[in-house]
Amino acid sequence: MKKLSSSEIRQMYLDFFQEKGHKVHPSASLIPVNDPTLLWINSGVATLKKYFDGTETPEVPRITNAQKSIRTNDIENVGHTARHHTLFEMMGNFSIGDYFKEEAVKMSYEFLTKELEIPVDKISVTVFKGNEDCPRDEETAKLWEEVGIPRERIYFLEDNWWIAGETGPCGSDTEMFYDTGKEPCSDHCDPSCDCGKYVEIWNNVFMEFYKHEDGSLTKLKQQNVDTGMGLERINFLLQGKTSPFETELFIPIMEKLAELATNPNETSERIVAEHLRATMMLISDGARPSNLDRGYVLRKLIRR
Ligand code: SER
Repeated sequence: MKKLSSSEIRQMYLDFFQEKGHKVHPSASLIPVNDPTLLWINSGVATLKKYFDGTETPEVPRITNAQKSIRTNDIENVGHTARHHTLFEMMGNFSIGDYFKEEAVKMSYEFLTKELEIPVDKISVTVFKGNEDCPRDEETAKLWEEVGIPRERIYFLEDNWWIAGETGPCGSDTEMFYDTGKEPCSDHCDPSCDCGKYVEIWNNVFMEFYKHEDGSLTKLKQQNVDTGMGLERINFLLQGKTSPFETELFIPIMEKLAELATNPNETSERIVAEHLRATMMLISDGARPSNLDRGYVLRKLIRR
């Protein structure tokens, strides 16, 4: 595997997809524009929803970005696990009615194994198991098999479905996992397990539906792809570390906190470091602490 810094990984990602015809979009503000369904920008696709639902047409149908994002649904886990952050940077490639499953899978595989040089035997994938709305995704499983992932490392799961908020463009997804080499926690240990053996590194969403307020789904007028790879995560895995807190993204903050701490406690220092980074980004994008909505989330981060 290549030993890279976070800046190098971000640049490699954007360059790789630019060479494959994608237009690079700069990271947008964490505060959504004209989108009452979202409190914060929570993914790379969140700023591009207008293209996916057909409200606007992009200049070119292929886009790539590295978008700062906020998710606070797992805030209690921050600092206790390697995977949870409130602020993270999500790298993504997007097809607006252009390529679909085949090209998306091939490009993901090429980036992971050729650019990042991740050994194929470290990669497992999951695909959608199917439900009454959308059938089992055998097509994507076959595509993974064709590029070189053996059947025994292709798992069908019910959870492989993604939507940016409560309503809007959505679809089944296929996720890629890195095997950390830890012993399996049981005979049933697979990528859906939380034991830390498998870490999700990339998600490809095949957005072909729109979810309405009454919960019903209709087909979008085009088939789209939305992908997301968390920079903090892939960075620590490629560097052979056990969490992002041990990488250059956090070391300077962790060192300063250790120096200032009167009662040193690594978990607390991780929480403070993570929330400081999120707080700083939110304030610089114009959020202010208050009792309501966004302001309340910011206040909670500062308090914690
Ligand atoms: N939107 C999907 C996610 O956040 C893929 O980018 O996982």
